Amino acid sequence: MRGTESLDFAVVNTELRHAPGVYDVLRLANGYPTDRYCHCINPEAVAEQLERFPEGQFVAITYEGGVEKVIGMACTMRTRRSPDERPLPWYDVIGSFGLRNHDPEGEWLYGVEIAVHPDYQRRGVASALYKARLGLVEKLGLRGWYAGGMLMGYYRYREELSPREYGELVIEGELDDPTVSMQLHRGLEGRAIIEGYYPEWRAGDTAVLLVHEPKRLQRLRRPPRPLPGLREVGRLRPTGVR
Ligand SMILES: CC(C)(COP(=O)(O)OP(=O)(O)OC[C@H]1O[C@@H](n2cnc3c(N)ncnc32)[C@H](O)[C@@H]1OP(=O)(O)O)[C@@H](O)C(=O)NCCC(=O)NCCS
Repeated sequence: MRGTESLDFAVVNTELRHAPGVYDVLRLANGYPTDRYCHCINPEAVAEQLERFPEGQFVAITYEGGVEKVIGMACTMRTRRSPDERPLPWYDVIGSFGLRNHDPEGEWLYGVEIAVHPDYQRRGVASALYKARLGLVEKLGLRGWYAGGMLMGYYRYREELSPREYGELVIEGELDDPTVSMQLHRGLEGRAIIEGYYPEWRAGDTAVLLVHEPKRLQRLRRPPRPLPGLREVGRLRPTGVR
């Protein structure tokens, strides 16, 4: 089903009945075994997340034979730590798979996890999940969103480049990474490289700090204010222009 067929799906807030589907999608997307327990966001952890921060949990669902199916998931939490502070490894930020470190007063939304079922990738599901996450920043009046995007394509270059060198080339758009390039194409800003973010050999344990900070973007786009005293000069028309 990968690729071109149109796909009818919706992004909704996760409910308890979606928990087994979230667990399946996560394991399938990451190539983890599905026939035994996996140390990741499991159904019990989803239940904890829903108690702590239900608005921050999203699933993409479709219907097959009239039965609801989870095809994507995105998990977020609130934090007081700004993306300008020293980045921490993923697990130190979240505290537990059930989001022990979620802070209801935190001004930042933190992207904990995103995954799309392999049979439904490249059809806009993650993009729709991002839209829902970034929409939450506005809805809750937060400063922004950030996350570490794992450099999942690094292993292809491990003989030639360090993870940092690879990450910098991905941020510059010189190399394409299956995860981080997709995130950069969704308008997120690649601000830094985070080594030792999460133990994942394909990514050399390294992530890119991805940030969405709407007010900063507005500030950057605003034309510079004239310096005091130069206001009148700014109003002069060039000679010959009427
Ligand atoms: C990374 C991941 C979440 C992306 O999910 P996805 O649903 O395939 O993402 P999207 O379909 O929204 O976008 C992926 C690409 O498909 C393209 N696409 C979207 N709709 C499309 C369609 N109908 N036909 C063809 N391509 C399409 C997008 O343009 C995008 O390409 P671009 O980045 O070059 O613009 C998914 O690959 C995944 O689960 N990977 C494993 C887990 C993982 O790495 N998670 C992130 C950890 S940080």
